[in-house]
Amino acid sequence: MGVPGLLGLAAWSFYVLVLAVQPHQAHSSIRGSFSLNKGAVASPENGLCASSVTVHGYKCEEHEVTTKDGYILSVQRIPEGRVGGTAGTKKQPVLIQHGVTVDGLTWLLNSPEQNLPLILANNEFDVWISNTRGTRLSRRHVSLDPSQPAFWNWSWDELVSFELPALFDYVYGQTGQKIDYVGHSLGTLTALASFSEGKLVNQLKSAALLSPIAYLSHMKTVLGDVAARSFVGEIGRLFGLAEFNPKAEAGGDFLKFLCDNPGVDCSDLLTAIAGKNCCLNSSTVDLFLMNEPQPTSIMNMVHLSQTVRDGVVAKYNYGRLDYNLMHYGEAVPPIYNLSNIPHDLPMFLSYGGQDALSDVLDVEHLLDDLKSHDVDKLSVQFIKDYAHADFIMGVNAKDVVYSKVVQFFKRQH
Ligand SMILES: *[C@@H]1O[C@H](CO)[C@@H](O)[C@H](O)[C@H]1NC(C)=O
Ligand SMILES: *[C@@H]1O[C@H](CO)[C@@H](O)[C@H](O)[C@H]1NC(C)=O
Ligand SMILES: *[C@@H]1O[C@H](CO)[C@@H](O)[C@H](O)[C@H]1NC(C)=O
Repeated sequence: MGVPGLLGLAAWSFYVLVLAVQPHQAHSSIRGSFSLNKGAVASPENGLCASSVTVHGYKCEEHEVTTKDGYILSVQRIPEGRVGGTAGTKKQPVLIQHGVTVDGLTWLLNSPEQNLPLILANNEFDVWISNTRGTRLSRRHVSLDPSQPAFWNWSWDELVSFELPALFDYVYGQTGQKIDYVGHSLGTLTALASFSEGKLVNQLKSAALLSPIAYLSHMKTVLGDVAARSFVGEIGRLFGLAEFNPKAEAGGDFLKFLCDNPGVDCSDLLTAIAGKNCCLNSSTVDLFLMNEPQPTSIMNMVHLSQTVRDGVVAKYNYGRLDYNLMHYGEAVPPIYNLSNIPHDLPMFLSYGGQDALSDVLDVEHLLDDLKSHDVDKLSVQFIKDYAHADFIMGVNAKDVVYSKVVQFFKRQH
């Protein structure tokens, strides 16, 4: 943990902390948010559309996308804004991809006036929300079951090779139009890695990358650093192919183990891991804690931890010469060379000065890789006060970030 995109880790840690330290307050605040948001956002067991979209008066469709490696993903489509659309006009599709250890619901936790999917819908976009393999709505496979180790035999390389291509093929197939993409955290790393290999770009119109993750060497959190070392060390070796479920008891034990390390201060975990989020709404945080974090694979966490350790954006390292040779024909896993991202691909990057996971120095390293990008195709926004979670749940993200995303997309149309 403490790995990139660890919005989920932050939440999980915060959750453990709150429950451990203030059990009564925690429970009453959760009850409070239930009555505050009666029927608004809750557990999406009947689908994300029912729990979080149609209740606000929007149309929403549940879709299923099967990847070439057999995972069956849950995808939601919000085809138009609240007041409908102009008849006969083709809307611009936009695919929204969340980060690691959370799911598509995180985008919908803020009020309808403040959250990105509904804002895009109201701006005439045809909105598609994905849910990564392993999270609660995407735990099906054509032949495997989550109880089998083989179900968890993937890292973010497979999100690049199989998951994003399946999502793009599907949305492109349904709409017949090139796609705008929004990623947060891990959803930026997988996109950048794909683009660097020339994948997706034929079906892509432009990409907005929030809290971009590529290099992770400067990740500020000590806790994250210890966690990353644990995943590339004993955790990876002990558990191999398995589910990483931060909510399960083993997750809590892992946190205790991390906090016992010298120099790790667990008294304010949310800040220690994600950075000092400036602008979160406590009702939204309550909803977040009720619904997240979500599982991922141990192998994915190990891969992210390798990125922290090695300072390069490369494929999964099997840690054994023979396995690396077998998979890659080379002793060392090949890198994703981000300088190879097509220079005319319209991209918008937004990063925060307080983000402990997407550190300013690491984003600068990424921008250095993009220095040959066509100047008029790359927009960069720096938000001094923002940390990792503000990009999804900030009460002012609508004005500070989302309005810029909408403007950027519309400029490319
Ligand atoms: C916080 O969230 C609640 C519930 O969605 C909402 O009613 C309230 O207006 C939000 N507060 C701010 C400052 O956005
Ligand atoms: C995991 O996937 C790799 C292919 O990437 C395959 O070679 C290996 O046999 C798989 N292991 C299990 C246990 O499914
Ligand atoms: C990445 O690609 C660029 C341009 O194609 C090349 O100059 C550079 O040497 C490559 N970097 C690595 C580490 O291979």
